[in-house]
Amino acid sequence: MSIYGQIKEKFVMPNAYSDWSKYREKVTGLIVNGVEHEVIGYDAVSAGIAKKKMVPIYKDGLSIVILGAGACSDIDLVEILQHFDEVTLVDVDGDSMAKAIEWLPEMYKEKITLKTASITGINDVDYKEFCDDIIQEVRLCGNVITHEVYIALLLKALERVEAKMFTSDAELQSELLPPAGYDVVVCLGVHSQLMALLSYTLQVLTYNVSRQLFDGIEPEMDEVMEKLKSMNSRVIPVINSAILKCSREKAVFGCEYDEKNPVEGAYQCIVDLRSRHLEVTEKHLQWNFNPEKNVIYDMLIQIV
Ligand SMILES: C[S@@+](CC[C@H](N)C(=O)[O-])C[C@H]1O[C@@H](n2cnc3c(N)ncnc32)[C@H](O)[C@@H]1O
Repeated sequence: MSIYGQIKEKFVMPNAYSDWSKYREKVTGLIVNGVEHEVIGYDAVSAGIAKKKMVPIYKDGLSIVILGAGACSDIDLVEILQHFDEVTLVDVDGDSMAKAIEWLPEMYKEKITLKTASITGINDVDYKEFCDDIIQEVRLCGNVITHEVYIALLLKALERVEAKMFTSDAELQSELLPPAGYDVVVCLGVHSQLMALLSYTLQVLTYNVSRQLFDGIEPEMDEVMEKLKSMNSRVIPVINSAILKCSREKAVFGCEYDEKNPVEGAYQCIVDLRSRHLEVTEKHLQWNFNPEKNVIYDMLIQIV
């Protein structure tokens, strides 16, 4: 398996479905709560002798898009399918989504559309290329490579991926999130993960390169980490704008909340939404992310 393949495997959480059950139930409740079929008119129906009453005519086809749906361990798909007629799942990881819906009966599957796509514009091939390019360039430099040359090489590789990122909500709108395209848009626990694969790839490669070429002394990575942060800060407002414009009824955002140690990506999302002065309902939910390692997140759910 390629290094990139091994890195991707590290993100798989085998016990997520059972570990996340309480969070899943609560967050799904917040998603479906109050979502009503739109009333498009009224019909007069008989109500006893010579009496008529007006009943609402509902528009069919309530739709929802779940961004970063992945293995669908943090949402109750069956519950979602009771409320929505069209369910679109989006994730860079198409295999996880395919597995997540495998067990569903056909009548449910018919309502689901899977889209393997990235909300940043950085796709699976770009991640793989990023990893392969760094390995190749380090090889070309050989053992005369210095810390400075190595860091410059990483920054260049990041700039190449950055060039693939969406720079305007119009790009996201044409690819994934059409204006007023869905009744509900959901994006839970994704903002913190947008640069996670790049960050983890850099850590793994740097660990290996340092052992092989720098006598185990790792180079200072501050500049590289700053670059990742700036990429998040650029793309997150673009993503949020597109989500807000795409949702007809409500947009549900979920981000890891930590005032003392803000979570990269999650923090930018929370601040961006708060700075827009929208009517936002905020709720906190506990997410037992990894009980084995005692990782628990305080999730801030922002509903617009
Ligand atoms: C922490 S998980 C959220 C939980 C996930 N819904 C589940 O149940 O497994 C973050 C998800 O965001 C996806 N993701 C990360 N970057 C993405 C991007 N740029 N575009 C779309 N999905 C992305 C990951 O593949 C992963 O499935």
